[in-house]
Order: sequence, then C-alpha cells, then structure tokens
Amino acid sequence: MDFTDDVSVFGISAAVLLVVIWIVLMMYLWFPELLPKFLRRRIMPNKGIYRAEALVYQNNGTTEDVIHVCVTSDRSRLGGMLALVNSIHRNTKYPVLFHLIVDEESVQHARNWLEESQLRNIQYELIPFPEEIVEGKIRVRGGRPDLASPLNYARYYLPQLMPTLKGRIIYVDDDCIVQGDIHELYRMKLHPPHLAAFSQDCMGTAKRLTLMKNNYADYIDFKNRHIQDLDFDPNECAFNTGLFVADLNTWRANNITKKLEYWMKLNTKEEVYGNERGGGGSQPPMMIVFYNKYTQIDPNWHIRYLGWTTGTTYTKQFIKHAKLLHWNGRFKPWGGRAQHSDVWEKYFVPDPTKKFKPIRKNV
Ligand SMILES: *[C@@H]1O[C@H](CO)[C@@H](O)[C@H](O)[C@H]1NC(C)=O
Ligand SMILES: *[C@@H]1O[C@H](CO)[C@@H](O)[C@H](O)[C@H]1NC(C)=O
Repeated sequence: MDFTDDVSVFGISAAVLLVVIWIVLMMYLWFPELLPKFLRRRIMPNKGIYRAEALVYQNNGTTEDVIHVCVTSDRSRLGGMLALVNSIHRNTKYPVLFHLIVDEESVQHARNWLEESQLRNIQYELIPFPEEIVEGKIRVRGGRPDLASPLNYARYYLPQLMPTLKGRIIYVDDDCIVQGDIHELYRMKLHPPHLAAFSQDCMGTAKRLTLMKNNYADYIDFKNRHIQDLDFDPNECAFNTGLFVADLNTWRANNITKKLEYWMKLNTKEEVYGNERGGGGSQPPMMIVFYNKYTQIDPNWHIRYLGWTTGTTYTKQFIKHAKLLHWNGRFKPWGGRAQHSDVWEKYFVPDPTKKFKPIRKNV
C-alpha cells in the first residue's frame, strides 16, 4: 500500500542520512587527514596536541623540506612566543613548521590567539609540556627564581616531545626576535663530531658590551668532585643556550636527554652549579654535556644581553642589521623598560583575550 511504501522510503532515507552522519563523525575523530582542509584545521587530536594540517613530518634531509623551528613558552610569556613566530614567519622565504611547546593550560589560549591573528595560516603544532617530567629535578640557588620555570627545561626533551621528527631542529628562546631568514641557520653546517651549534659568549659584541668573563667557572662549580673528574678547563668560553641548531637523531643516539637529567638530578643533591651567575637555570647542564662538542653560530645571528640593562647597549643602526635579537636578562621587551623594545613591538600580535598585555614604554 501507498502508506507503508511512504514509511519505508522515509525509513530508508533516514537510515542513509544517519549512516552518512556517522561516517563523517568517524572520519572527524579517526581520520582527520581525509577531511577537507577547512575542517582539518579545526580539530585537536592526540590528547590536546594540536597539529595543524596533516603535516609532512619526516625531514628527509633535502633543502626543499620545511624548516623545523621549536619555541617553548609559558602562560606569562606567550606574547613573546607569538612575536617571535611572527618575526620568523615574516622574514623567511621558506616554509617553516613551528613546534610550540607550552604549559598544559596554555595550549587552548595559544591556539585561539594564533587562529584569531594574522598567523592563522602558518604551519604549527602546539605541544603541552608534561611538567611532571622535571618535578624534583630543578634546584635554583639564589639568582633569578624565574629560571625555575619548568618550561625553561623543556628544551632538554625535544626528541620525546617531537617523537616522529628525525632531522634538524632550530630552537629559539621566546624572548628573541628574528630579523634574518631562518633558512640560513637551517642550512648551516655542523662539523662532526659536533652534536649541535651554539653561540659563544666570549667573542665580539657579547663580550665587549657586558664586560663579563663568561667562562665555564662563572656557571659551574669546579670544586665539585664530579666536575673535577671531567677535567674541563674552567677558562673555557661559555655559550648561550637561548639559540641552538641540533639534529634530533644525533641527540637520541648520544643519549643527550639522559645526560642532561643526570646533571640536573645531581645538582639537587650537591652543588654542581647554581650559586654563580647562571643561577642554576637550564644553561649549566647543557654547557657540561656539549663541552667542546659544538659548532659556533655566526655572531650576527645571536645579538644578546638586550635584557641585561635598560640603557641602550647597542646603536639603532647595529640593531637594524642584526639577524637575531635576544633580550636575555631581567628586562623583557614586553615589560616596559627594555631597550629597543620598538623592534619587538613591530612583531607583537595582540592577544584576543587580553590576558597578555605588554607594558608600553611611552604611555
Ligand atoms: C624529500 O622530500 C621531498 C618533498 O617531500 C621530495 O620531493 C624528495 O624527493 C624527497 N627526497 C628523498 C631523497 O626522499
Ligand atoms: C646510549 O644509551 C644506550 C642504552 O642505554 C647505549 O646502548 C648506548 O651505547 C648509549 N650511547 C651513547 C653514545 O652514550
């Protein structure tokens, strides 16, 4: 009869519709890479790790590859991370994939911030840092308590935080601005058996302007028996860990994370480093593990100590031609008192939630 036919047609249509909805829902949950681009960008698989796009993740060593850049930050400094990402993005001609490591509660905040800004089309992933990894391993003696922030140590765990990434990574501190093309660092040669590249602190402008010795003895306690066993030269030049170029497979093969953790843990029990200028931050363990095992980065690629004083350490002209500026020290460019903060302001990305508000100098 007509009536039953109507019912069955209706029933079949409803069933088909439900199946279609179910398939789309399953795709959304399990196979996000099959979705159209505009849908893919809106999802958050992998336990809160937000991976924008279906990323071509493996670095096969060709120059056509995407450049992998890693930045770590926490809730109080996200604005620094965003400005840095913006500066790298605006000054390169090459595709970059940003690996942004933040505290767990900042993942959503950072994601909204990026998605509502001019940076919404960059390639990035947001990785929550499980802070329990470093619990009980940090001991800062005197110095600056901000150096005890767990995110300051996330750089020790890059291979675990990016498990599928094999090749070169460029790590940059969140209080930096990049004015050169990051591709130059991506292409630089690491000279075997070197494990990474860093900037030395005894040469050029870094030395002249800060009037500091910057050798190993400034950061590490040479009275410690374990340090004496290493037979290091206390006058060896220190290096800054705010920028480095490394290869993640080399890192894994050399157990670098394990070695860094060894020194961290030892320092909580006895004084290995920490009461000197380094203050026990993330710098000394890296100086121990990479002693004499790194290539030097071009000095113009790491102009630093901009946060050391509020005075103008460098001329405007000099700053203009620097490839990378680093406000290491107390005076951050978003804090209202730092020198050359006008350069940082150019790259600042406003926070739609207004939680992060830079203090402006002349207001
Ligand atoms: C590396 O990847 C690029 C881009 O995906 C590809 O064009 C190239 O053929 C690959 N090279 C090798 C050696 O696999
Ligand atoms: C790294 O650790 C593994 C396992 O503990 C060990 O077999 C290997 O020899 C270590 N490699 C280096 C370079 O220390």
